[in-house]
Amino acid sequence: MDYSEKVLDHFMNPRNIGKITNADVEATEGSPACGDQVTYYLKINEETLTIEDIKFLSYGCASNIATASITSELVKGKTLEEASNFTWKQIVESLDGLPSVKIHCSVLAVDALKSAVKKYQIEKGLRAAEPFNEKTVMQEMRSIIHSGAGDDIVTLNMVKSIEYQDGILTINLNISEKDVHKCTVVSEIKEHLSRFEEVKELNVRA
Ligand code: FES
Repeated sequence: MDYSEKVLDHFMNPRNIGKITNADVEATEGSPACGDQVTYYLKINEETLTIEDIKFLSYGCASNIATASITSELVKGKTLEEASNFTWKQIVESLDGLPSVKIHCSVLAVDALKSAVKKYQIEKGLRAAEPFNEKTVMQEMRSIIHSGAGDDIVTLNMVKSIEYQDGILTINLNISEKDVHKCTVVSEIKEHLSRFEEVKELNVRA
């Protein structure tokens, strides 16, 4: 696999690796696509709402470790707001790119960081827990990467419509019959959405 020097450096010498035992918040995200996962531990200054310390543990591939490492460097010392504004595309750019089949690894790391920030903000009453609706689903769809194109299925206009009513969620996709990644995309959607207890029935039409 063709990795940039930066990816190899962060993989071989990961920054901020480990666990913070008295962390203010921690969050884990797993990838349905490969079964890997990453956990972030954060120490947060309650007055300035900045990330004073950050560590991570990765049970993933080289891209996962490199992305988690560079993300930890980029957000250390930043406010929670600034940290949650980072996108996986910015992180991939800061690593001088990743092969398209490895993009989902960076999404995983960035999602874990955002989950930790969100969890802290909700616990401290800095933001309200969001109700589950079509917007939540669209947000999840942005974490699903089409490995051939190396981009998320929302950006690729593959999500035609989302309907949610009385626990029944229907997602209509705009994806070619001949697309070799179609089955992977559909099964990723199912695995992502099955985490939500609000979804009693899920239909993905491709
Ligand atoms: Fe699983 Fe990279 S995180 S393949």
